Amino acid sequence: MSKFYLTTAIHYVNDDPHIGHMYENIVADVIARHRRRLGDDVWFLTGTDEHGQKIERSAAKEGILPIELADRVVKTHHALWKKLEISNDDFIRTTQQRHRIGVLELIRRIQERIPDDIYLGEHKGWYCQSEETFVPENQVRDSRDESGHPVEWTTEQNFFFKLSRYTEPLLMHYRKHPDFVMPQTRMNEILAFVEQGLKDLSVSRTSITWGIPWPGEPNHVVYVWMDALTNYISALGFGSADDEKFRRYWPADVQLIGKDIIRFHAVYWPAFLMAAGLPLPKRILAHGWWLRDNQKISKSLGNVVRPYNIIDDFGADPFRYFVLREMVFGQDQNYSDEAFLGRYNADLANDLGNTMSRALKMADSYFGGKTPPTACEDNELLRASRDLVPEYLRAMDDYAFQRALEIAWRFLVAVNGYIVSHEPWKHFKQRGADEPLSRIIWNCLESLRIIWVMLAPFMPVVSADALRRLGSDPNAIGRQDLDWGRLPVNIPIRAGEAIFPRIETSTYIGGTMSNPPIETTQAAPPDLARITIDQFREIDLRVAEVRAAEKVEKSKKLIKLTVFDGDGERTLVAGIATRYSPEELVGRKVIIVANLQPAKLMGVESNGMVLAASIDGEPSLLSVDAAVPAGTKVK
Ligand code: MSP
Repeated sequence: MSKFYLTTAIHYVNDDPHIGHMYENIVADVIARHRRRLGDDVWFLTGTDEHGQKIERSAAKEGILPIELADRVVKTHHALWKKLEISNDDFIRTTQQRHRIGVLELIRRIQERIPDDIYLGEHKGWYCQSEETFVPENQVRDSRDESGHPVEWTTEQNFFFKLSRYTEPLLMHYRKHPDFVMPQTRMNEILAFVEQGLKDLSVSRTSITWGIPWPGEPNHVVYVWMDALTNYISALGFGSADDEKFRRYWPADVQLIGKDIIRFHAVYWPAFLMAAGLPLPKRILAHGWWLRDNQKISKSLGNVVRPYNIIDDFGADPFRYFVLREMVFGQDQNYSDEAFLGRYNADLANDLGNTMSRALKMADSYFGGKTPPTACEDNELLRASRDLVPEYLRAMDDYAFQRALEIAWRFLVAVNGYIVSHEPWKHFKQRGADEPLSRIIWNCLESLRIIWVMLAPFMPVVSADALRRLGSDPNAIGRQDLDWGRLPVNIPIRAGEAIFPRIETSTYIGGTMSNPPIETTQAAPPDLARITIDQFREIDLRVAEVRAAEKVEKSKKLIKLTVFDGDGERTLVAGIATRYSPEELVGRKVIIVANLQPAKLMGVESNGMVLAASIDGEPSLLSVDAAVPAGTKVK
């Protein structure tokens, strides 16, 4: 039995899972179920990425601790994976002790093998908090990265990993394993990126605390990507006394991720592993993006799609089928509920459901509710299955799920054609349930049985029920069940109700089934909540120096400030007295809005506003380095 270790990306817990996360876990689940029935000893890992600034800030916004946020959101993840029939063997959270052990062990091994692979240095650059990464200068425009996420200029004393040393070893690895990253286009992107030469990578942060403390340096936390990537081995017990799983399953056979995070998986991760003297994953498999109105779905863009209602109303299987049939693996695809309903009615209710009902009804009425008494070893459907099953298996091997499903549908079309051309109802009328009719109906049921075995990884629940209806045992499905001839004769079948009842699109979208109807899957109105860069530029933000400060009489909160704004002095009133005394403000550099219309506060005219963050009403002044001169524009 060969082992097969399969992982997904671990998902951030700053929000509930959306269709992108759902798709990823469904794809992984299809691969896992397929490999299991081929006889592999599969270990399937998914989990959550719970450290880093993104989580820290989301929690702060809610006024709760990061771990409280993680504990809450991880529950939604668990519940959703259960609903979607995800058959993962393990679930890792990066806040678990076993993970910390693994991360520290990885760092220890790197430091032990090549001591100068990790060194202390200064990091200056544009940091994108939403992607938890430094963004190259040439990808920054107007303080935003290429996807529009805000970036901040950041200077830090960090630990660095000597990634530059791994340019050549990585290129050699890619040349030796041209399928290391799949699809090929993604491998080419990575090659082009690494061929430019790699820069060293900072692997610790001092500006945040929500992470794993760097060994021996409590002011530093491990960079969240180094932390997160290590989940693939920490979950197997790497670094602990009980590392049996690590020894059995590592290296991963497939690491499934979205195309946006290939660089981390195909460059950084293998470099860390090389440095630690560990084997590299065999394959990084990258899927495309789910889009809404041609834009990537993401929390920061505010166009998130969570079709939870579809799963509640239709069950997991139709949705699983839909996402795998609709998206060409590796490419991007728009989501809409209408497209789901279209496929549900056409492919599932009509093609698959009707063919199934028809065949079962005929067996029911012609053969007394049993599979017919005579099997058939030579006919056009058998020949179709001999062509289509190997093609299907190749498609599954190539992770071409859409093709695999199309092949199953080709078989279904053949069954329909066979029924139409043999007209069993006429045969029955004329000659009754004789042996030729037995063969005809048996062929239909046998073909459907094979089709359902093909569909089993995609629709595990419905296929089990369908196989039972056909008189087959859905448990212990193996590779051999794709072969012709395994449907028993004279076994009870169950015609029963439609497998996929037709749902009128207008009824569903109109909202009689689900309450509220599809609200969660509507796109956000285009950018209403955002301002343009020109609107932002209208605000005159500058650095100012506080020259004098005094409390405003009879006010607990207000302080009157005299500030120098680069052009001259002006008076401002700020509600910061609960936190700051006038004395400590003098000489301090603050950020002001210089072109605000004047306003009177407790009788004092304020010409502008001082910027401060407020935590439950407690202000914290925004500041800049003392060396920045008053009057400097903030942009
Ligand atoms: N936490 C990191 C991954 C660390 S792995 C060591 C992360 N998390 S994520 O929650 O943002 O994304 C998790 C996975 O979902 C990634 O593989 C990502 O590509 C995928 N998707 C996120 N949005 C997506 C779409 N809109 N469409 C399809 N998948 C996308 O990145």
